[in-house]
Amino acid sequence: DKGNHRHFMEKEIHEQAEVVSHTLSNYIDFAEGKVRLDTGQLDFANLDRLAMSACGTAYYAGLIGKYWFERFARLPVEIDVASEFRYREMPLTGRMAAMFISQSGETADTLASLRYCRDHSLPIGAVVNVRESTIARESDAVFPTLAGPEIGVASTKAFTCQLSVLAALSMIAGRERGTLSPEDESVMVQALVEAPRLFNEVIRDIEPQIETLSRELARFKDVLYLGRGTNFPLALEGALKLKEISYIHAEGYAAGELKHGPIALIDENMPVIVIAPHDRHFEKTMSNMQEVAARGGQIILITDEKGAEAAPLETMATITLPVVHEIVAPILHALPVQLVAYHTAVFMGTDVDQPRNLAKSVTVE
Ligand code: M6R
Repeated sequence: DKGNHRHFMEKEIHEQAEVVSHTLSNYIDFAEGKVRLDTGQLDFANLDRLAMSACGTAYYAGLIGKYWFERFARLPVEIDVASEFRYREMPLTGRMAAMFISQSGETADTLASLRYCRDHSLPIGAVVNVRESTIARESDAVFPTLAGPEIGVASTKAFTCQLSVLAALSMIAGRERGTLSPEDESVMVQALVEAPRLFNEVIRDIEPQIETLSRELARFKDVLYLGRGTNFPLALEGALKLKEISYIHAEGYAAGELKHGPIALIDENMPVIVIAPHDRHFEKTMSNMQEVAARGGQIILITDEKGAEAAPLETMATITLPVVHEIVAPILHALPVQLVAYHTAVFMGTDVDQPRNLAKSVTVE
């Protein structure tokens, strides 16, 4: 049931305050200001390495998780798309565990990667949305996302719920490895607890602007997304979302890679969506943005209030979000990324919930 919404995707974007809050409450003790979760057979304190793998949007969630595990828990993470992981014969030596991320829990390549790790006796964790799924059943420790059924082929609420679970997992790993102080943990918990309340406000504030902007975006054949740090996987996610439902060609790049190739594409026909809240990468990303502007590229900046103030030049549009803690930023910044894709596709009249050639669950390789 779509309720008052035109598409399941629209409904699912708007549901995120509720489902992210529901998911977080499964992993966080709000009263204590601590993460509360049973990591089962994943003994984070004694791991040398974590191998992650997933497909599509779930893979991008994992990439953000990698930044968090390495930063907050000092735990090295190897991450691959599952279709590569399953065949690349990675040596699974030392004290390792594996982690798989999947909305459906049935994706063929992700499941095959899981079985490869199981055959090598690794402890297996899974972040899944469908509790009865094969991936959930075959894992040692299941960390559910409580997103509810996701119907739209383009994944939205499952992604932000995956990020919420990965945030909690990286924090518990940090605590167990002695790399995250109780003070930092409680600041992060507070930030996460307050996040869902912001979602509805943010959507209300930015959606009209994004609708107008999408009419302009619909004129273009190509769009480039740029970001640094955890904004890099978000750039990849933005490009995937736009291409899968609007069929506009889009690419996501690490902003620092601009000079290594994609800058050759920049002209007035190539809008560039820069995802850059005012974090420790901001200045660097701004200089990339200036390089784009100097070549006539049109810029759409997704940033926060501090970033909007500090941004050095005129843009085609600046979408401004509230300033939040770095653990919340990718979850919050996913909203404009999803809304841009959604409204552009609606404006172009494509079948948003059932885009051509795609299936919700990819059970063959
Ligand atoms: O069910 P899964 O999370 O394992 O699915 C993975 C991908 O197939 C999925 O995220 C796909 O990329 C979506 N269409 C993205 O919107």
